[in-house]
Amino acid sequence: MSQAEFPIEPTADGSQTFYSEAFGEWFHSREGAYAEAHHTYVEATGLVARSRQQPCITLLDVCYGLGYNTAAALAALWHEQPDYPVEVIGLELDATVPQAAIAQGLTQGWPAPVQAALHALAQGQPPPPPLQGKLLIGDARHHIQILAQSGWQADVIFFDPFSPPRCPQLWTVEFIRCVAQCLKPDGYLATYSCAAAVRSALSEAGLNIGALRVAGRRWPSTIASPTDTALPPLSRQEIEHLETRAAVPYRDPSLSDGAEVIHQRRSQEQRTSPLQPTGAWRKRWLSGLSSTSME
Ligand SMILES: C[S@@+](CC[C@H](N)C(=O)[O-])C[C@H]1O[C@@H](n2cnc3c(N)ncnc32)[C@H](O)[C@@H]1O
Repeated sequence: MSQAEFPIEPTADGSQTFYSEAFGEWFHSREGAYAEAHHTYVEATGLVARSRQQPCITLLDVCYGLGYNTAAALAALWHEQPDYPVEVIGLELDATVPQAAIAQGLTQGWPAPVQAALHALAQGQPPPPPLQGKLLIGDARHHIQILAQSGWQADVIFFDPFSPPRCPQLWTVEFIRCVAQCLKPDGYLATYSCAAAVRSALSEAGLNIGALRVAGRRWPSTIASPTDTALPPLSRQEIEHLETRAAVPYRDPSLSDGAEVIHQRRSQEQRTSPLQPTGAWRKRWLSGLSSTSME
């Protein structure tokens, strides 16, 4: 087991999350970590309904972290069909995160078969049937290129990096394009982010985008699909946001630049962009609000 220890924080639904000193951010919404995994990822992608129509589900968990999103998926699928076959590939930079989540007792709220699956994945062991899969430890930008070239595709993708300001490397057009290649034509990608730069990157990568609103959350999340053109529509506010320079996406042509270089490249592109400055939009829609989750 890992020797690493992470600071723990309770969230509103009673589940706990970690704080990342390296990225200066919590791993989950403080409004409820288990609830976020369930609503923003499992419900959003319609995973359980899909499992009623096909013999197995393939899942790509981008930024596996403590494993909550995978855990919520397995819990929901196995609640209905305990022997339902699932294949999971998780991308995660730091193997000590899923290991510490188990060692520090944060995964004990999941059903026993789900905990057994999380344990095996964190240890790099073959997971117990009916689960197959593994974690690919290291920079997701490296692993996603190999996965995309292999032709492997997922029914659903959970896309959960730290926020764009903290981790722009994983919100670039180039990275998302590789991720999109790993999504079946009738598959769905879900992410908590509603940032304009994220949505424009998803569009530039060839995905249709929709907005999902969850009760109790101030900001909508995003659902994306290669072929579904009837996703829940964006609001007027969100559409106008995409017409501003906030929608200039992050770029990383070599899939290897650091955060600073990626931020500088975007600032440069924003300065010469024909899109409107974001100030007027912000004044129209966000006056009085301090949060900038949409940016
Ligand atoms: C917001 S957390 C994910 C939380 C996770 N989905 C969960 O349910 O616990 C972001 C994760 O991205 C990982 N990460 C950061 N940079 C990465 C990179 N370049 N490649 C792969 N993973 C990365 C972090 O180690 C962290 O575990």
